[in-house]
Amino acid sequence: MRVDPRTLGWLSRALTHEMSAVQQYLAQSVLARLWGDEALAAHLRREAVEEMEHAERLMERLILLGMAPSAGNLPPARLGRGVEDLLAADRQLEADAVRLYQEALAHAQRMRDADSAALLEGILGEELAHVRELDEMMTERTQHG
Ligand SMILES: [Fe+2]
Ligand SMILES: [Fe+2]
Repeated sequence: MRVDPRTLGWLSRALTHEMSAVQQYLAQSVLARLWGDEALAAHLRREAVEEMEHAERLMERLILLGMAPSAGNLPPARLGRGVEDLLAADRQLEADAVRLYQEALAHAQRMRDADSAALLEGILGEELAHVRELDEMMTERTQHG
């Protein structure tokens, strides 16, 4: 099968995003633990693992298409002085993910690459759930905080 180089580009861009997300959630988890907030640290660590699983699925697709996975330069993890800062940074990260997966999915559909489209659509759904979850956490904090 002929592999569309732009599809490989989108998959690689998505991989870079996921590795950045792993770095950010893991670093925030470490920071939360240093603050003594074990519950938040555990939550953020679980998010890091979910993003790692997204990276894993993208790597499988890249390898099946004959390409060695290679994430680009990762931006620094966005930290902050308190929980609100972390949630705001994560909300931004997840909104970026949604935009990226929407564009990547549209490209795969135009190329009639059903397998890549199915993968991208699946991850897009999970990123949309991450955005909703963060919105709920932020609303809860403004109500009780
Ligand atoms: Fe992700
Ligand atoms: Fe996410």
